[in-house]
Amino acid sequence: MRVVIVNEPGLENLAVVERPDPEPGPGEVLVRLRAATLNYRDLLTVEGGYGSKQRTVDFIPLSDGAGDIAAVGEGVTRFKPGDRVVGNFFQEWLAGEPTQKNLQSGLGGVLDGVASELRVFPEYGLSPTPGHLTDAEAAALPCAGLTAWSAVIDQGRTTPGDLVLTQGTGGVSTFAVQFAKLAGATVVATSSSNEKLERVRALGADHTINYAETPEWARPVRDINGGRGVDLVVEVGGAGTLEQSIKAVRPGGTICLIGVLSGANHEFRLPLVVTRKIRLEGVTCGSLEQFEAMLRAIDQHKLRPALDDRVFGLEELPAAFAHMRDGRHFGKIVVEI
Ligand SMILES: NC(=O)c1ccc[n+]([C@@H]2O[C@H](COP(=O)([O-])OP(=O)(O)OC[C@H]3O[C@@H](n4cnc5c(N)ncnc54)[C@H](OP(=O)(O)O)[C@@H]3O)[C@@H](O)[C@H]2O)c1
Repeated sequence: MRVVIVNEPGLENLAVVERPDPEPGPGEVLVRLRAATLNYRDLLTVEGGYGSKQRTVDFIPLSDGAGDIAAVGEGVTRFKPGDRVVGNFFQEWLAGEPTQKNLQSGLGGVLDGVASELRVFPEYGLSPTPGHLTDAEAAALPCAGLTAWSAVIDQGRTTPGDLVLTQGTGGVSTFAVQFAKLAGATVVATSSSNEKLERVRALGADHTINYAETPEWARPVRDINGGRGVDLVVEVGGAGTLEQSIKAVRPGGTICLIGVLSGANHEFRLPLVVTRKIRLEGVTCGSLEQFEAMLRAIDQHKLRPALDDRVFGLEELPAAFAHMRDGRHFGKIVVEI
């Protein structure tokens, strides 16, 4: 089989190599991966900047992949050869609250990832692919999809009539727009590009703001509902956006902290959070139980993830990451395997 290996940090060090085909043991399945998608985290991981626990030598990157079952090991009951499947991001976080241990089971960071033609998974590390989705669409779901689901549905508790703010038009944010609409909310989406704002309106956003043209977007956002403020901010910007988010959210509202695209360290006025009873809550993807709840909703509503127009091959992974770093994409970038 062909796999992509990282042996030292840097996009220029990604190498496609041949490895012997693996075989599934008891309780395991062998998956022929057909597609993967990129997350911003994968870029950080390949560049060696994703914390002290990530592997940097002889590891296979990318967390999100989908394909079909090539073979099953002894005692496997969940799947049979030919079934289409998608991997769960945290292989060992099955349900309930996370633990230190199961948070160390992310694919393509601590564990080998899916940039590989074949990969063995425990049978509980996968879920059936919703029938209406292509493998590329299914591969968009594990990290970006589940993170947006956790933020908007489980932690953000979005209900009809809410106003939800999303930032930019990357993987997490485009899913957040779709899930917020599914929950009956009104969505205000930001982007640095007017062309992408048109696309995010087509995806369901009701209001749009160009954050490059309007860096102080909190006031126009609050004006949308007569000054009340948003119920939920899906915060992917981090240091560069948090202050505007705090000003845009309503008293008693929630900011789900997901990403730090514009910086990790920031000083802000804590009293603003305290006196307006703002809930600041971290989101870290989700469990298998949450993944399967999301898959049921996606299946029932025949929701299709937003995929970028450009598709890359396994050998083109450095170019795919460069495309992501340049911020030219909309939604998820697909890598065909
Ligand atoms: N906590 C978790 O479990 C979790 C899971 C997934 C991702 N994340 C994090 O969430 C963030 C987004 O990940 P992703 O994979 O969705 O990234 P992505 O697809 O690369 O999205 C990048 C987009 O974000 C927008 N952006 C960049 N700077 C911005 C700013 N200052 N204000 C508003 N938008 C901005 C840009 O959109 P426009 O081009 O439209 O301006 C850019 O295209 C990353 O920091 C990632 O590490 C965390």
